[in-house]
Amino acid sequence: PVKIERALRGRLLSFHADPRIVGPDAGHRYIEDGVVLMSGGRIVAVGEATALLQRIPTGTAVDDHRGRLILPGFVDTHIHYPQTRVIGSYGEQLLEWLQKYTFVEEQRLRDRSHAEHVARFFFDELLRHGTTTAAVYCSVHPESVEAFFAESERRGTRMVAGKVMMDRNAPEALTDTAESGYRESRALLRRWHGRGRQLYAITPRFAITSTPEQLEASGALVREFPDAYVQTHLGENLAEIALVKEMFPAAKTYADVYQRYGLLGPKSIFGHCIYLEDSEVEALAASGSVAAFCPTSNLFLGSGLFDMRRLQHGDVRVGVATDVGGGTTYSMLQTANEAYKVLQMQGQRWPALQAFYMMTRGNASVLGLGDRIGSLENGREADIIVLDARATPAMAHRMECIDGNLAEELFLLMTLGDDRCVVETYVAGRPAKPM
Ligand code: GUN
Ligand code: ZN
Repeated sequence: PVKIERALRGRLLSFHADPRIVGPDAGHRYIEDGVVLMSGGRIVAVGEATALLQRIPTGTAVDDHRGRLILPGFVDTHIHYPQTRVIGSYGEQLLEWLQKYTFVEEQRLRDRSHAEHVARFFFDELLRHGTTTAAVYCSVHPESVEAFFAESERRGTRMVAGKVMMDRNAPEALTDTAESGYRESRALLRRWHGRGRQLYAITPRFAITSTPEQLEASGALVREFPDAYVQTHLGENLAEIALVKEMFPAAKTYADVYQRYGLLGPKSIFGHCIYLEDSEVEALAASGSVAAFCPTSNLFLGSGLFDMRRLQHGDVRVGVATDVGGGTTYSMLQTANEAYKVLQMQGQRWPALQAFYMMTRGNASVLGLGDRIGSLENGREADIIVLDARATPAMAHRMECIDGNLAEELFLLMTLGDDRCVVETYVAGRPAKPM
């Protein structure tokens, strides 16, 4: 029998299916007084406290979170770690924002010790906010990727990340070439993809900053390493789309630029996807590609409103993401808050159970990681968070008239909640929330 290293006791909530598909109350399991047993970084049992507590030897650490919700850690499907000091930069839309703020700050990641400092800050922020896995853009510098994965390895987190490739329309100090971008990405991929919990994403920034040669080289990497991820941006901003059409006159659409180079597929994550033609929706769906909904960024940069109903009815796999530093929060709860409002503006509903599904198991599934993370089940990796819906006076006050209604409590968490609600974050079975 395995030695139980730690037990968590509290109100367990986990999703086994998408409530949008199976029905509002059929996708989750909730245990009012439950226990999760962990060993070797994994969950080894989940169930009623009365039954499970008898099974553990005396002296086992039992973290008592009774009254609080215990969920799988949040998953963020699109975020930029070199942009932690760009967040909240005033006044511009995408293309000007990139030139004026982002491309200036990202140059500093050239320095390995600065990259290490930023990576430490970034992981502290993610874990403080209850995010245990993310799909992350590093900078163009291989050192930034090394610093990132080394920090992830130290923390024990499961992360997807890659070196940004960009060989035009950016400052000289921030560009690679089709050849060096390929060579450096390949070396990083071979070193980090599948090493422990780390996974690599081939990351051409977007069509505007890559030459056809670089997109071709990205496609070559995809063919060579079909189980690596691809991440890029698509259909975010009207000026961006007009420029892409000018730069790639032979392509039918923006998505067709990526499709021509073999960059669509079930491991490809496209940030934003606000402005898509029907043929682009069909291409994303047919290829199993993922659209990452980045509500705080789409509002902050004045990009537009993501049409979730259209994409989901068109069978596109959808995840939700912060997109820091175009996005204005690390919190997946606050991201869900803004997503809800974006959908409200379009007459679309987003029940709390669907939002919490997407932030956990849904995002894990679109990353192809649904069998490893994103739920509380035997054998899953033990990335777990503890949430308190009474964390602030306004929330505690509101909770007074939510007696025992789980959906209402979750909705409160996603509207008023943020990092103050995250009581603890466990990574691979160990407490990992920084002070
Ligand atoms: N498109 C290309 N690069 C970026 C970026 O860094 N942030 C956002 N939001 N969009 C982009
Ligand atoms: Zn982005």
